[in-house]
Amino acid sequence: MTLSQTTLDEMREIAGRYPEARSGLLPMLHLVQSTEGRVTPEGIEACAEILDISAAEVSGVATFYTMYKRRPVGDYHVGVCTNTLCAVMGGDQIFERLKDHLDVGNDETTEDGSITLEHVECNAACDYAPVMMVNWEFMDNMTPESAVSLVDDLRAGKEVTSTRGPRLCTWREAERVLAGFPDGRVDEGPGAGPASLVGLQIAQERGWSAPAVKASGATGTEPTGDGAQAASRTDTSVEAESAAVEAESGSDESAAEKKEAN
Ligand code: FES
Repeated sequence: MTLSQTTLDEMREIAGRYPEARSGLLPMLHLVQSTEGRVTPEGIEACAEILDISAAEVSGVATFYTMYKRRPVGDYHVGVCTNTLCAVMGGDQIFERLKDHLDVGNDETTEDGSITLEHVECNAACDYAPVMMVNWEFMDNMTPESAVSLVDDLRAGKEVTSTRGPRLCTWREAERVLAGFPDGRVDEGPGAGPASLVGLQIAQERGWSAPAVKASGATGTEPTGDGAQAASRTDTSVEAESAAVEAESGSDESAAEKKEAN
C-alpha cells in the first residue's frame, strides 16, 4: 500500500465535489499521478472503490487519455508538437535534436529521471509554432537551440518561466494542480499573446462586433460596421454567381431539350 491516507482522503474530497461522484475520476487520476508519478494499479483500484465502479472502467479511462501515464514520468514532462504546422515550422528538427541531446526515444525518461520526452499532437497553439510544452505549459516559437537550452536549464534546477504562463513547477506539482488543488500561480504570465489576439485587434480597428442575439423570429446573424458592407458585397457576388449558374444550367437544359426534340 503506497497511497497515503492523505491521498485517499483527497481522492474522496474530489469525488465529493460532483453531483455524480464518478465525474471526479479524471482529477482523481491526476492526483494519483501527483503522488505516484504514474497511474498505478493500486491507484486504479482506489479510484474504483471510492467511486463504486469497476477497475476495468477506471483502467479504460486511464489508458484512453494520453495525459495519463502508465510508466513513471520524470521531474519534467517535455512535449514537442510534431503535428502538421509545428512540424513544417521546425518541430520535427526540435524533436530529433532533443532525442540526440537527451539520449532518449519518444516517451522515454533520461537516466537521471529529470526529463521525459514525448512528441505531442496539436496544442491549439499553431500561431506560435513550433511549440513545446513543459508540464502542459506553453513554450512558444522554439528552435532546436532554445529547446536544448530549455532542457539544460530544467536539469540544472534553474527557474524557468513559460512564455505564456507561470514559472514552471515539476510534473508532479502540475498534476496536483490538474487534480484541482491550486498552487497560486494561475495569474502568472500573460495568458494570451499578441499573435492570438490579432483577429480581435483587426475587428476592433474595423468596428466589427459579434452578431446580436435576438429574442425570436430573427436570425441575429447580421454583421455590423464594415462587416455589414463586406457581407452585402458578398451577398451581391453570391447572387450574381447564382444567376450565372442558373443561366448556365438553363442553357444546358435548353440544349438537352433541343437534343431530345431532335
Ligand atoms: S500544430 Fe503544433 S500547436 Fe498546432
